[in-house]
Parts: sequence; structure tokens; C-alpha cells
Amino acid sequence: MDEIERIKQLKKEKNAIILAHNYQRGDVQDIADFVGDSFGLSQKAASHTASVIVFCGVDFMAESAAILSPKKTVLMPELLAQCPMAAMITPELLRKEKGKYPDAAVVCYVNTPASVKAESDICCTSANAIKVVNSLAEDEIIFVPDKNLALYVAAHTNKKIIPWNGYCPTHHLILPGDILLEKEEHPEAEVLVHPECRPDVVALADKVLSTEGMLKYAGISNSREFIIGTEVGLLHRLRKENPEKTFIPATPYAVCPNMKMNTLQSIIRSLERNEHVIKVPEDIRAKAKVALDRMLEVGRGD
Ligand code: 13P
Ligand code: SF4
Repeated sequence: MDEIERIKQLKKEKNAIILAHNYQRGDVQDIADFVGDSFGLSQKAASHTASVIVFCGVDFMAESAAILSPKKTVLMPELLAQCPMAAMITPELLRKEKGKYPDAAVVCYVNTPASVKAESDICCTSANAIKVVNSLAEDEIIFVPDKNLALYVAAHTNKKIIPWNGYCPTHHLILPGDILLEKEEHPEAEVLVHPECRPDVVALADKVLSTEGMLKYAGISNSREFIIGTEVGLLHRLRKENPEKTFIPATPYAVCPNMKMNTLQSIIRSLERNEHVIKVPEDIRAKAKVALDRMLEVGRGD
């Protein structure tokens, strides 16, 4: 039996679904029941009726699924698939920051540990960060951990944004020169970039979008060519869903090694051995769920 058949068999046996982020390897995306951005994956994790969720993404995504669906078994095929940006903030550091700005609300990007979500008023993703910030009554917002997303939001709100100094190492590999070079070669192409990119890259974009936002926009735009400023895994769906259009990575070096750890083999192992089960301690889970639920109520922005 080949790997794909074995995964199908195990999914049936265990009443499992596979959720995959848009940056996963192409073959992993192809066997998933749902592929999406952080917002879409949180929604699916909250609403699906399967008993087991195999989460093909990184640690904070599986944790969010465990927070939203405590009765389901959430499995991570590769425990070392961890987001380095999420590790750039801790609850202790956030508490200190809150002490400095007692009147500020705390918005945490979903790329954070559960313990940081538990210290925050509301979560956001790249799809709804502006909408989430504007939904709050407070005029001052501590925004953690991504400084680039914070600056992007600051440019689209009247509120005072206090950024944390975190960043995504993969998106920082995309440089303004990469965009300018590709633009010279493809002058008609539209430039779509993720808000985790550096501000000087964001400044060169025609559109700044979440991964799912890019997929939607590429589908409806009249352009035939696009320069894509995000992790290269997104090109798989962009090309599959728009075979008549051309997608050029801003740089082929924008690869997230953590996202790429999950393989068909590790999914099989995960389902066969029921590992690695992701659980969040109940006191943290309950508080973190408030922040995630509030975000889901606000809805997506693009
Ligand atoms: P989105 O797919 O939500 O835009 O997130 C990007 C990301 O970096 C996830 O790790
Ligand atoms: Fe984290 Fe960046 Fe990888 Fe997303 S692409 S998981 S933000 S390191």
C-alpha cells in the first residue's frame, strides 16, 4: 500500500482529519482535508467534528487547535516544527511590558505560545490584524511579537501601536532588491507581499495580504503575473488553483525549515502511534481561549 492509501485508511480508522498550513510541502497539502491560513485553520479546528486532528503546521497552530477543541486529540507529526517568531515573546516579558503601559490593550499575533495568549486581550492573524485593533475600545495597543505586522497595522489605524521587537526569520530573507530585480524582469507583474515582510519590502508591494488573502486576490485579479513575497510553500496552491497565471517567488530562499518538517511518513507515524499529543494546561487554556474566541468573533479582514 502506498503512503497516500495508508493515510486514507488511518484517517478512517481513527476518525481523523488533516489540517495543513499553506506553507506545508506540496504532497502534504495534497493529502490534507483542509489547507489554509492561520485564521482559516483556527476556524476549522474550532468547528470540525472529527475526534482526531493531525496538525501539519508549527507548534502555535496545533496549540491553538488544542485550546479551541479540548475534547479532540490534537497531534503534531513533528514536535520540532516550532515557530522561532513565537518564541520571541514570553509571558514574563509581556507582563513587564503591560506594567509599563497600564492603559493599553494587548493584541497578540496568533504566532505566540498559549501562555502569551493567556496574558493577552485578543489574538489576531495576518488576515484580520487591522480589524482586530480597530475593534478595541482602548487607544493604546501593545502588539506582540511581530514588529513588522505591528508597523503595518500602525500605518492603517489611528490608535497608538506599541510594537514588540520580534520578527519572522524566513520573511526577513526577502529583501527590497529581490522585488526590484523581479519587477525589472516582469514589469507587468503585481507584487503581493505578506505583512511579516520588512517595511522596505512592504513599501514596494501592490497588495499586502495574508496567505489566504493572496490566494483569493490572485484568483480575481486580471493580472497574468505575480511576484510573491512570502514563504515559497504558498506557490503550490497558487499555481494549482490558477494554472493559466504565472507566479514568481520574490526569492527562492524564503523557506521556513520548521514548516517543511512534516512529511507523509511523519503523518503516518503520527496516526499509527497517536503522537505527539498536544495539550495545554487547563488554567492557561481557558484564558487563551478567551483571546482566540474574541478574534474569531471579529472575523477575517481580507
Ligand atoms: P498566514 O497564513 O496566516 O498569513 O500566516 C503566515 C505565517 O507565517 C504562519 O506561520
Ligand atoms: Fe514562524 Fe515565519 Fe515559519 Fe511562519 S514562516 S512559522 S512566522 S518562522
